[in-house]
Amino acid sequence: MSNFADMKELIFATNNKHKLQEVSEMLNNTVVIKSLAEIGLNGDIPETADTLEGNALQKAQWVYERTGKDCFADDTGLEVDALDGRPGVYSARYAGEHCSFDDNINKMLAEMKDKTNRKARFRTVICLIENGTPRYFEGRVDGQILTERYGKEGFGYDPIFMPDRFAVSFAEMPLEVKNHISHRGHAVAKLVEYLKKTTN
Ligand code: IMP
Repeated sequence: MSNFADMKELIFATNNKHKLQEVSEMLNNTVVIKSLAEIGLNGDIPETADTLEGNALQKAQWVYERTGKDCFADDTGLEVDALDGRPGVYSARYAGEHCSFDDNINKMLAEMKDKTNRKARFRTVICLIENGTPRYFEGRVDGQILTERYGKEGFGYDPIFMPDRFAVSFAEMPLEVKNHISHRGHAVAKLVEYLKKTTN
């Protein structure tokens, strides 16, 4: 694809600037990503389903119903084995409604204080709506919950998550490295593969 003006446009149903930056970098040269701010769509996107797939669909549908344009949304959960898969789909609100990333990390460190099994994974589901039809793309990364914070990059639980085969947390990695191995990175790679096959 050489001509920027001819590239397919997709709206990314998120208000999270970090995610927008991560995903825009990965989709560079495949499609033009428009943020909600760029198209002037405001408001709280609902996220009330009890699965990642359900939430991704709900968020993408919210945008599709308001714009009629092709769009996608993602939903991510951190699944911790010693907590029977919690917080999972409730990762954003783990420490309560309107809690901060820091509140969530503090709660996780407290709940995991005496746990020896620290295995966890991030799982992302992307829902793409094209011409009204939803399609799903999933990515995951396995790792460990650390016992304290490391690093300043990224967002969310990044300072306390160390992916397998690495000796640093997500928050200690350059964004390109995180994107290459992360849950969202793998899900976006599948989305890119699909878009490359279907757009020209
Ligand atoms: P969301 O619903 O996809 O926004 O993700 C739910 C929550 O998971 C977010 O509020 C973050 O706390 C966390 N999360 C999502 N993606 C990441 C990531 O790449 N690193 C760390 N935490 C993440």
